[in-house]
Amino acid sequence: MSDANDTDPPQESGAETDTRDALADRRGLGDPVYQPAEDSGLLAEAGATHARGVACEVGTGSGWVAEQLRAVDAVDHVVGTDLNPHACREARARGVEAARVDLVSALADNAVDTLLFNPPYLPTDPENEWDDWQERALSGGEDGRAVIEPFLDAAPRVLAPDGVVLLLVSSLAGFADVVGYAVDCGFDAETVREESYPYETLSVVRLSA
Ligand SMILES: C[S@@+](CC[C@H](N)C(=O)[O-])C[C@H]1O[C@@H](n2cnc3c(N)ncnc32)[C@H](O)[C@@H]1O
Repeated sequence: MSDANDTDPPQESGAETDTRDALADRRGLGDPVYQPAEDSGLLAEAGATHARGVACEVGTGSGWVAEQLRAVDAVDHVVGTDLNPHACREARARGVEAARVDLVSALADNAVDTLLFNPPYLPTDPENEWDDWQERALSGGEDGRAVIEPFLDAAPRVLAPDGVVLLLVSSLAGFADVVGYAVDCGFDAETVREESYPYETLSVVRLSA
């Protein structure tokens, strides 16, 4: 994978590109690390109410959500993961223990009470992928669920008994499809936050076994 600074996005046109550019613009994506946006805020709000024990924010980005979790009384310990080395550095600078790993791959079995994830979810045609760290933060592959589904497959292994997942779900990735996949993975799903914007509705779903 190349760094955001050494890859020029290809020239594109069309509705998908317009949506992506609008989202990227709205979320202030001018550097290789995803900066806190509406979706980050919604996840942090859900974490303030529902996170407890050992909490891991997958795809921690700037580390802002993980930093908010450290102030939650019911949370004992916070860690983050991210594939992006720039993100891990930025999160560590906020005092967040961040590991550069794929999803939850470095975590021990049954070790986490609360898993949180604001995933890349923007549906992206393979021909429009732009191959940099911003893409890894935004693109959810053709159906928007290319990262969400492997995450839901992997989550049960690392969750402690009675552990929960707080997952940010955008309507762009198909709310019913994401929740249906989670149910197929053995979770019960409850929507605990929801906000609508011009391009999408964002929800935080609490998943419990
Ligand atoms: C939408 S951004 C969210 C960033 C931050 N959590 C927030 O809410 O502001 C998604 C993050 O997931 C990271 N990511 C994407 N795929 C990943 C993977 N397979 N494993 C770990 N992190 C991943 C990206 O690098 C990016 O930082």
